[in-house]
Amino acid sequence: MNSKGSLTVVGLGIQFASHVTSGARDHIERADKVLALTGNPIATSWVTELNPATESLDTCYRRGKQRLVIYTAMVDRIMACVRAGLDVCVVSYGHPGYLVHATRESMRQAKAEGYRTEMQPGISSVDCLFADLGLDPGEAGCQTFEATHFLLHKRRIDPTCPLILLQVGVAGELACKKRYGREGLRTLIAVLCKQYGPKHEAIVYEAAQYPFVDPRIRRMPLDAVPRARLSEYSTLYLPPKRRARLDRAMLKRLRLTREEPKAK
Ligand SMILES: C[S@@+](CC[C@H](N)C(=O)[O-])C[C@H]1O[C@@H](n2cnc3c(N)ncnc32)[C@H](O)[C@@H]1O
Repeated sequence: MNSKGSLTVVGLGIQFASHVTSGARDHIERADKVLALTGNPIATSWVTELNPATESLDTCYRRGKQRLVIYTAMVDRIMACVRAGLDVCVVSYGHPGYLVHATRESMRQAKAEGYRTEMQPGISSVDCLFADLGLDPGEAGCQTFEATHFLLHKRRIDPTCPLILLQVGVAGELACKKRYGREGLRTLIAVLCKQYGPKHEAIVYEAAQYPFVDPRIRRMPLDAVPRARLSEYSTLYLPPKRRARLDRAMLKRLRLTREEPKAK
């Protein structure tokens, strides 16, 4: 284990200042160097107030560049600070290990090079969705995919289980752009319509990023989604098409007379 240099990644949650845990705050305040990947200048200023040794990694974003090239530049900057012997804290929005390539890849490299690493969980967009839509992921299960991965890997859906798709606003797009095309989104919806039917309910969801602001919850038929206004922060939620069938033979085998009642 390297005695000098460490990497801790923390998340701010989704809602500015009010979702951050005291553990994450401590790490930010104590670090020799903070690298902020918040996507929000106000959040980055807030982090800078907690620790003036803060540098924004959001400046790595360049229009026209492939996202992987941008993420690699972020990882290189993080690792340069760790290798310089600093206790580094990388701050992302949401949960820092949830679809944040730069934090996961830098953790992997730092660990492989013998540096101390730690990830502190944060409140993710999906946690907010559970709360705002009243969805209990333990009840009928929950399937979550990143939209482009879902298409490229032909993932199979269980229509009796709630479906959450992230990054729908940038489906099929690998480069960073000012405005994204709709081709990937149209393809995604065409694939989903085959399974659910065009009039199945879809919810385009955006959690509130500031206190006292309502979340955006827009309900529409599935085939209307390509015409909806989406942002890079939009998540698509599809409720189940039908309930999962109860296996009566299994009920008998387990010597149960009925299923556990669900909270209403
Ligand atoms: C690169 S991922 C990052 C996820 C983030 N680390 C988290 O913990 O939620 C970006 C995607 O997260 C989802 N997301 C981010 N912010 C959101 C918000 N305010 N409301 C709903 N979904 C959001 C969207 O699907 C978006 O395309």
